Amino acid sequence: MSKIIIAIDGHSSCGKSSTAKKAAANMAYSYIDTGAMYRAVTLYFLQNHVSLSNPKEVEKALENISIEFRINSAGQNQTYLNGLNVEDEIRKLYVANKVSEVSAIAAVRHAMVDQQRKMGKKKGLVMDGRDIGTVVFPEAELKIFMTADPLVRAQRRQIELMEKGEVLDIEEILENIKGRDVIDSTRAESPLKQADDAVVIDTTYMTLDEQVDQVILLADMVVLKK
Ligand code: DC
Repeated sequence: MSKIIIAIDGHSSCGKSSTAKKAAANMAYSYIDTGAMYRAVTLYFLQNHVSLSNPKEVEKALENISIEFRINSAGQNQTYLNGLNVEDEIRKLYVANKVSEVSAIAAVRHAMVDQQRKMGKKKGLVMDGRDIGTVVFPEAELKIFMTADPLVRAQRRQIELMEKGEVLDIEEILENIKGRDVIDSTRAESPLKQADDAVVIDTTYMTLDEQVDQVILLADMVVLKK
């Protein structure tokens, strides 16, 4: 059976990564979480006090950043920044609060898109983000645009953070989610928008397994039509 590239874009916390990860595992595809790459850059910028308004500092910092993904013994995808596992740190709210600002910088986007295209040289890939179907792989055989009600997204995020020991008010999370929606959708550089040929999946009333099944079904249809 031939393999394809599946681009999954959409709003934050609507289940993109969990769906993409599980669908990729079920199909024996690789999985790349591009949000984790922007989060890792943000963490580096915060740790090294990089001034976002200074293009030279940003360029220099980008030259010193190496991001890779490794699978741990439990089979989970882990993000490494310059050789260190930062998987837990990049999910924290202080990183989430800064990531939209960092990912709106053109130099950051160019560096990440270059790396993502290299990672996608081999077909049999699920990549999720905001601009995968529109900018990174406009030729992807299957494009999915995921969305969900903001309150449901905030509730899901709250549970996820709680499982990691971060207890936060729903209002604070909702504010972060809505703020990120605005920045992600209105930025000048590759804003979040639905590709014309994307299939929309609204996950408000869906379970993770239903979302995964839907992606696999769509992928099977694309492959069979090839
Ligand atoms: O998917 P996520 O919430 O982990 O993404 C974190 C941030 O990174 C999000 O606010 C938008 C940005 N992002 C982006 O601009 N482009 C991508 N391809 C992926 C994420």
